[in-house]
Amino acid sequence: MSRERHAELTDLLSRAETAYHRDDEPIMSDADYDAGRAELRALEAADPSLSSERPVGAAPAEGFAKIRLAKPMLSLANTFSEDEVAAFLQAVRRDLGLASGDPLRVCAEPKIDGLSLNLRYEDGYLVQASTRGDGSVGEDVTANARTIMDIPWRLPGAPAVLEVRGEVYMSHADFRALNMRQAERGGKTFANPRNAAAGSLRQLDPEVTRERALSFFAYAWGECSEPLGATQTEAVARLAALGFPTNPLMGVAEDAAGLTALYRAIHEHRPDLGYDIDGVVLKIDDLALQEELGFRSTTPRWATAWKFPAETAWTTLLAIDIGVGRTGVLAPVARLNPVTVGGVVVSNATLHNAAYIAGLDGDGQPIRGGRDIRVGDRVQVYRAGDVIPKIADVDLAHRPAHAVPFVFPGHCPACGSEAVRLEGEAAHRCTGGMGCGAQLVEKLKYIAGRDVFDIRGLGDTQIEQFSDLGWLGGPGDLFTLPIPTIATLEGWGETSARKLGEAIEAAKKQPLDRVILAFGIPLVGETVSRLLARHFGSWSCFDAAMDRLAAGDAAVEAEILGIEGIGPIILASLARAMRQPAERDAIRTLAAALDIADVQAPAAADAPLSGKIIVFTGSLVRMTRDEAEARAEALGARTAGSVSKKTTLLVAGPGAGSKAAKAAELGIETIDEEAWMRLAGLEAEPAAGTERGLFDEPQP
Ligand code: IVH
Repeated sequence: MSRERHAELTDLLSRAETAYHRDDEPIMSDADYDAGRAELRALEAADPSLSSERPVGAAPAEGFAKIRLAKPMLSLANTFSEDEVAAFLQAVRRDLGLASGDPLRVCAEPKIDGLSLNLRYEDGYLVQASTRGDGSVGEDVTANARTIMDIPWRLPGAPAVLEVRGEVYMSHADFRALNMRQAERGGKTFANPRNAAAGSLRQLDPEVTRERALSFFAYAWGECSEPLGATQTEAVARLAALGFPTNPLMGVAEDAAGLTALYRAIHEHRPDLGYDIDGVVLKIDDLALQEELGFRSTTPRWATAWKFPAETAWTTLLAIDIGVGRTGVLAPVARLNPVTVGGVVVSNATLHNAAYIAGLDGDGQPIRGGRDIRVGDRVQVYRAGDVIPKIADVDLAHRPAHAVPFVFPGHCPACGSEAVRLEGEAAHRCTGGMGCGAQLVEKLKYIAGRDVFDIRGLGDTQIEQFSDLGWLGGPGDLFTLPIPTIATLEGWGETSARKLGEAIEAAKKQPLDRVILAFGIPLVGETVSRLLARHFGSWSCFDAAMDRLAAGDAAVEAEILGIEGIGPIILASLARAMRQPAERDAIRTLAAALDIADVQAPAAADAPLSGKIIVFTGSLVRMTRDEAEARAEALGARTAGSVSKKTTLLVAGPGAGSKAAKAAELGIETIDEEAWMRLAGLEAEPAAGTERGLFDEPQP
């Protein structure tokens, strides 16, 4: 019994992990997942013969092997003013015993705000990557580093031993895209690009790192079997020649005035770099002099970090507005008395969600010392990663007497539909679906966009333009746009309008899974859409099932829950959308405008397994369950997650339990994995006479 439960749990949790990490599309709540893990651990504790493939419940911090660094990774002393820089130069000159006229070249480069990484190459091969850890012992993140495009695996012509050091970071664009993806799928969002980079690099599953666009700049080295150059500049140029990205904003100056000019130039570039920097690193250029100067306990004497001033400012919070996103997420926005923060005028800041405003994080722990944010408050604004302005703090001493705690609306401010919080989510969502005008415009942008129907010529600007003209009352209207009139609009012409017409016409032909995806139902992303499409096969079957779902039909709920990969939370989200009359109408109108292809029976009717309904249970050794199902479908079968009267074949691996019992009860043919391999044509038949193929006709 416990063996069966163990197999079931391992399978479920591994699917949940893939859905969460790889697909960013959770199929169960964090609480359910944790409960599952706890149960699995308990089963394994009670019966040591049970073990899961991967360590269960290992905290990430314990999950990485420790690496003793060949040379310590140090930090930098900080400087904050031109005077302090002059003092730094004076100390260096004194330590080196330079006369006042002797030249001293100093290199200046941006201080990248990421996390440092040591990459060890032996004979030109990347053999190890380590984080800084405590400076002497780091974490082994080799597999993860190998997924970063900027990091070469091979370095032809490199010294026999070469440790390259640099910064892993995430660009503003990648950070925004990641957070948007995470937020839409109910995942964890990151406070700034640095946190996102650290969280993405320190993943136990390198596949997660691969999907998080990380970048790298090389700026230093550790152990090295031969010198890379005579100066800092030369050595970095050598790293660039070997294939590493190095920062283009490096410069060399000879005195405080020259360094100040470089510092200002880099500071001026800061807003357009597209990634975070938090200062300028000054390094004595001559490596022989670096050597001579040496180190203090944790910082080199030959370098200093000239930090940019903190970019914060105090202003008044005028109002809290609520924006509505594509999937209905209600996004509170602070309207501020405009204030300059780091050279940019800020008048809006994100407030994330209700808990954030109340002074709590996602786990209910206090942030800002638990101080809530109220309209009328004096608030401290900062630019997180220099992109998204946020509120750092609230000045309670200046709180107006009339300020009241903010009450998060229970209804969508755009359409008035009820706003609800889905289980495990911090955000409130409008339940109006496509009946909500604000959501609709965002949804239409999404539907026409690259991820769904990819209609050329119908970008965000055009959607907004046509929406303002009153042409887009629902998604179906995308397909009945007045092309001749569009040709007469400013910025349009005969050709561009005709091309748009053609692109729209071409987009009418869609496979069922794209159509389901287009509805933009929370938690129903690509994977879930595909599962639903595969299960229902045609629009008419799907549509009929959705009617029954909206009516609360328990049988159809059970049927959907029977689809592997769909759990109660997704089901609830789907049902909620289908119960909204406006949403249901919009979905129908969209479908009516389209030519929806049924899910192709992947093989012809004479395919070997055509007409069979196969259920896999227990653990398979030779292939994953996904592979087995894909193979079965390629051979014409349909697959199901549970045994019913319609099931024609059960493939049962070790650990099969209730499904096997039910199949036996119903008299359904059951085979083991070996027989399945032969049936699937993946292994030779045994010698004639010993066993007959399952679906072979009896010999005459
Ligand atoms: S040189 C011996 N150069 O800043 C010091 N560090 O505060 C070697 N950093 O841990 C570091 N950009 O993570 C250096 N251009 C740059 C840098 C840089 C960012 C980081 C690095 C280091 C931290 C020290």
